[in-house]
Amino acid sequence: SKLEKFVDELPDMPKIQSFEVVNGVFKSKPLEIGMFKKLWKFHRDLPPTPVYAYGTSKRNATIPGPTIEAIHGVDAFVTWQNHLPSNHILAWDPTIPTAIPRTKKGIPTVVHLHGSIGEPESDGHAHSWFTRRFKEVGPTWTKKEYHYPNSQHPGNLWYHDHAMGLTRVNLLAGLIGAYIIRDRDVETPLRLPCGDEFDRTLMVFDRSFLTNGSIYMNSTGNNPSIHPQWQPEYFGDAIIVNGKAWPRLTVRRRKYRFRIINASNARFFRFFFSNGLKFIHVADDSAYLEKPVITNETLLAPSEIADVIVDFSKSKSDSAILGNDAVYPYPSGDAVNEDNGKVMKFIIKKEPEHDTWRVPKTLVKYPDADLSSASKTRYIAMYEYTSDIDEPTHLYINGKRFDEPVTETPRVGTSEIWNVINLTEDNHPLHIHLGLFKVIDQTKLVKEEEFKACMLKLNDAIKCKIDHYARGDKIEVPAHEKGWKNVYKMTPGFVTKILVRFAFIHSNESYPFDATTQPGYVYHCHVSHFSPEQIL
Ligand code: C2O
Repeated sequence: SKLEKFVDELPDMPKIQSFEVVNGVFKSKPLEIGMFKKLWKFHRDLPPTPVYAYGTSKRNATIPGPTIEAIHGVDAFVTWQNHLPSNHILAWDPTIPTAIPRTKKGIPTVVHLHGSIGEPESDGHAHSWFTRRFKEVGPTWTKKEYHYPNSQHPGNLWYHDHAMGLTRVNLLAGLIGAYIIRDRDVETPLRLPCGDEFDRTLMVFDRSFLTNGSIYMNSTGNNPSIHPQWQPEYFGDAIIVNGKAWPRLTVRRRKYRFRIINASNARFFRFFFSNGLKFIHVADDSAYLEKPVITNETLLAPSEIADVIVDFSKSKSDSAILGNDAVYPYPSGDAVNEDNGKVMKFIIKKEPEHDTWRVPKTLVKYPDADLSSASKTRYIAMYEYTSDIDEPTHLYINGKRFDEPVTETPRVGTSEIWNVINLTEDNHPLHIHLGLFKVIDQTKLVKEEEFKACMLKLNDAIKCKIDHYARGDKIEVPAHEKGWKNVYKMTPGFVTKILVRFAFIHSNESYPFDATTQPGYVYHCHVSHFSPEQIL
């Protein structure tokens, strides 16, 4: 039975604030957020689905979880509580490096605030997991209460599970949510659409369901050495926004702000409006742009964020479908179909309205990417590699897997140039914790196979004469992706040059923690988190 589209209203997730106002000043308000197993209705005609959801109580738990609102400069304290039962609702592959409790009971979880600049103890390291009531904890676990300083620029972050080897199933089960840092001094003068009605977060992801409502995960094993639940990339056919499949939203003829987060495990979305409405980009993952940029479509890799204004007063029709035409896997895979090619529907009221929001000419000016300031140049190669003793195919970074010793040791407060060489067939969204980066350009590799053969032998881009191969056509970075980012699409067959800054982008700010200890962080591909990560 096929699910009818656009029958459920778009939900808004509950908002919780990590601060309170006492005598006119902002004060931190410690939060406790739990993870609960519960039933969730993804669609009017679908039986309730067993899920894991974040919330302040089981009753309040939602998919996605509550949107946490924080204030720039006001520390947030969150105790993440695991209330999950012993056994996972989804099947997982125990043959890859995975957090497994000694007692084999309980579901390891740990929360990462994606885009946050803060202390490593609160970063949600994959080995800092914990089970129900902290009964068992992972080897790098240190504390219950996480501290987020919020001393970074205002912008859009999101939180999600990050437990070793279980991230993909924990996310599929529902452990995701949005986090916004606001800064009145910077944002009020912009006069962008604001308030609950006109400033909304859209968390978009894909899921498949069985007719009984439970989440369907295909099993991929057809080889005796591959576990049936080996699941490098997950694609679902139903497109979910804020916890409802293909929802609808009635809007007024005026401007809205949408903070669109791609919370899929592996699906890229290229969004467009069926009636030609445009996206006016004002920010991306975790930072504002310098100037608004208008586009007809917007391509988001998993975990990328587009913060856009949509002006419905410009609509020539009374409804618009938000569509998606990104093939999957991207860019080597299948074309979208009737189902995953549609996202949600906007029903646009007839009466014209006057609104006082505006799209300013300039937004927020941050330092430029200064290549001459880079203290180091690194080459990071991504490739898949199969050997007889090493099934299934793993994604390696510089020939290394996650649990190998630390490879890159940048110093806090410095900038570096990273040349990321993608020798796989698919586009991989590279995410770096703690750092923010600017994408400089992407250069096609000539004679890629020759270079790859050398890399498989020597694992060393310099020895393999990368400069000799990185001299094909260049792709220009689209204007709306030229701001500071924490994740970007590494085009296959290309070298992507980025300038990473292991520091705040506000040049006048320092780290909210002791920078002399050189904290450890990870960078990794954001597809399902199946791939190895490395520690900075
Ligand atoms: Cu979205 Cu390591 O995180």
